[in-house]
Amino acid sequence: MTTVTDVIAVEQEHLLQVYRRGSVVFERGRGCRLFDANGRSYLDLISGVGVASLGHAHPRLASAIADQAQQLLHTSNLFFHPLQGELATRLSNLAGLPRAFFCNSGAEAVEASLKFARRYWHAQGQPRSEFVAFEHSFHGRTMGALSVTWDDHYRAPFKPLIPGVTFVAPDDIEGLRAAVTERTAAVIVEPIQGEGGVRPIGGDMAKAITAACLNTGALLIADEVQCGLGRTGRPFYSPVIGLEPDLMAIGKSLGAGVPIAATLFSERVAAAAAFGDHGSTYGGNLLACRAALVFLEELVDGGLMSHVARVGAHTEAGLHALAGRHPFIREIRGAGLMWGLELDRPAAPIVDAAIQQGLLVNRTAETVIRLLPPYIITTEEIDEAIGLLDAALIAAFGGQQG
Ligand SMILES: Cc1ncc(COP(=O)(O)O)c(C=O)c1O
Repeated sequence: MTTVTDVIAVEQEHLLQVYRRGSVVFERGRGCRLFDANGRSYLDLISGVGVASLGHAHPRLASAIADQAQQLLHTSNLFFHPLQGELATRLSNLAGLPRAFFCNSGAEAVEASLKFARRYWHAQGQPRSEFVAFEHSFHGRTMGALSVTWDDHYRAPFKPLIPGVTFVAPDDIEGLRAAVTERTAAVIVEPIQGEGGVRPIGGDMAKAITAACLNTGALLIADEVQCGLGRTGRPFYSPVIGLEPDLMAIGKSLGAGVPIAATLFSERVAAAAAFGDHGSTYGGNLLACRAALVFLEELVDGGLMSHVARVGAHTEAGLHALAGRHPFIREIRGAGLMWGLELDRPAAPIVDAAIQQGLLVNRTAETVIRLLPPYIITTEEIDEAIGLLDAALIAAFGGQQG
C-alpha cells in the first residue's frame, strides 16, 4: 500500500512546491464524505474549495461523464458541438446575461472579463484601461486577475502587474466615489469576498458602486466564481445586494469537479467582440459542458437550489449557537452554504484539529474558518459537522475562551 510518506516524498522530488497540503491522501469519496488510504472517513465541508457541488461520486454525474467519454470528449473551438449553446442558454436564463464564453478556471473567467471590459472601450473609440477593485479581493493567479487581487503576499513576487488598478476598502464609500472616474474601464467586485475572509459587500457599498458606474459609464464586473451558481441558495449574489453587472465570472461549482468556467456578457459588451479576439483550446469542450449541464439540471430542475437555501438557514442557526459556546468566535459571516467564522486568533490550528476529528474545513485570511460544503449536504450532516467542529475548537483552544 502506498503510504502518506511515500506520496509526500515523490511530490517533494517532482512537484513545484507551491501548495502546503494537509497530510492526508484521499482515495475515494461518496456524497459528502471522503475516504483516505486507510479507509478512514472525513466529512467534507470544503468540497475542493467550493467545486464538488454535487458531492463525490454523484451517480448521475458519473454516468453522464462515462457516457460522454464513450461518445466524444473534445473537438476544440474550431468546430460546433451541441452542448455549448445548450449550456449558454441555461446560464443566460439563470443570470439574465445573454452571452457566454467558456474557459477552464476562475482566473481565466476573470481574465476574459478584464479583457472584454477594455475591448468594449476600445470599440467605443475611447480606450479606458483602468480598474477599480476592493481590498481583501481575490480574483485568481494569472497576471490580469492577480493585478486586481489585493493581498500583496500573492502579488509581490510577480510585479510589475498591470498598471492602473485602484483598491478601495469595502466600507469606504467616499473612496469608491473618488476612485471611479471616466478613465475606469470597469469596477470588479466579489459580491461575497471568499478568499478574503467570507465578507459580503454591504448594501450601501453596492448602491455606491451602481451610482459610480452610472455616473462615469464604467462597466461592472461581478466575480461570482465562489459565491455564485446557487452557493448562497440564490442563483447569484449580485442581485441580492442590488448589483446589475455587465460581465460576470463564474466557475468552481459549475462543473461539479470537471474543470469549466465561464464569463457571461451583457449584449452591449458582447457586441464589441470580434472573431479572433479571445479563445481557449479546451474551453467548453463536450466533457466539461456535459458535466455542467448535469449540475444545472440538479440545481434548477432538481430543486437543489432550494435545498441549499433550507440547509443554509439551518447551518446559520447552528453556527450562531456554536459561536455562543466559544467567545473567541468573533463573527459569523456568509449566506446559504458559504460561511466564515472569524476568530480572535489564527485559525490554522483548527484545520488540523478538525482533520483529527474527521472533518475537513479550511482557513482563509489567517483568522477565518471557511465552510463551503457540497450543495447536497443534509441538515443531519451539518449537525454532525458542527459537533465535530465544536470538538476541534475545544481540542485546539481548550479552555482559552475569549
Ligand atoms: C472569487 C474568485 N475568483 C477567482 C478565483 C480563481 O479561480 P481558479 O482558482 O479556478 O482560477 C477564485 C478562486 O478561489 C475565487 O474565489
